Amino acid sequence: MTDTLRLTAPAKINWTLEVLRVRPDGYHELRSVLQTVDLRDIITLRPARDVIIEVSGPEAAPLAESPPESNLACRAAGALRDRFGVRRGVRIALEKRIPVAAGLGGGSSDAAAVLRGLNRLWDLGASREELAGVAATLGSDPPFFVFGGTAALSGRGEQVEPLPDAVAPSIMLATPPSSGRLEKTASMFRALTPDMYGDGDASIGVRETVFAGRALRDEDLHNVFERVTATLQPNTARAMEALRALGHTPHLAGAGPSFFLLLPGERAAPTLAGSIRRLGFQPRVVRPLSRRAALTTRKA
Ligand code: C5P
Repeated sequence: MTDTLRLTAPAKINWTLEVLRVRPDGYHELRSVLQTVDLRDIITLRPARDVIIEVSGPEAAPLAESPPESNLACRAAGALRDRFGVRRGVRIALEKRIPVAAGLGGGSSDAAAVLRGLNRLWDLGASREELAGVAATLGSDPPFFVFGGTAALSGRGEQVEPLPDAVAPSIMLATPPSSGRLEKTASMFRALTPDMYGDGDASIGVRETVFAGRALRDEDLHNVFERVTATLQPNTARAMEALRALGHTPHLAGAGPSFFLLLPGERAAPTLAGSIRRLGFQPRVVRPLSRRAALTTRKA
């Protein structure tokens, strides 16, 4: 096996993100519906003796601050080696296009893409469920990206129910120039108080809408972290508030600090992009990415 594999690792947004309670293990019990979008990192895997990573691309800079072997993509390769007793290595070339620590799941997606790719490169024959099991040892988000498309999450986020591809309009993403803080998610969770906990209704609603093949609308979406952005991500809160004052409906992406807006007609996009730029955020139009498109692998 000397094949080189090329995979794409898509970003995600959360249609919903609800917290039900704190669990005995200290994590938060979640209900969430996630969606891959067509903003993608590109990953090339080549056989090698050890696990090595090279990072390049327009969003690579923040990753240069930490040791390469701490990258979740490398840790994914290590976890798979341990799980299946593999002795081979891999050279991972990661072209980073998804902003880092922006709430778009880029690192988790890279990890899942490495697991999917190595399953082929190392000829492991692991099922998607087995790969998701390895992904869960790396964090709460990676298992979703083993499935991609639209999916409902529960537990601490590691229990994934793949759903039919959601019907949804294009999406305007807004990312801050550099988000940087890698440990942000934990502080966002810590800031939640019990009065913000819900019963998962919004996620149940979105799941039903997706199964019925109806288009998602602003009023279907909900993200509990919007309750704590004013305190922990004031720039994001200010920008979202300014857009609301202009009649738009922004939604936080994951644990922030990016946010997104549904674009029912793309004619409004240039004006909206201008407003987002003036608020100091970078606008980008993306589309929901189907499960099939999210999981493409090619021999390079
Ligand atoms: O699982 P992951 O390492 O991605 O989570 C980062 C942090 O976010 C955890 O250490 C935990 O503090 C918090 N978290 C949580 N409940 C979840 C997922 C994450 O409290 N369901």
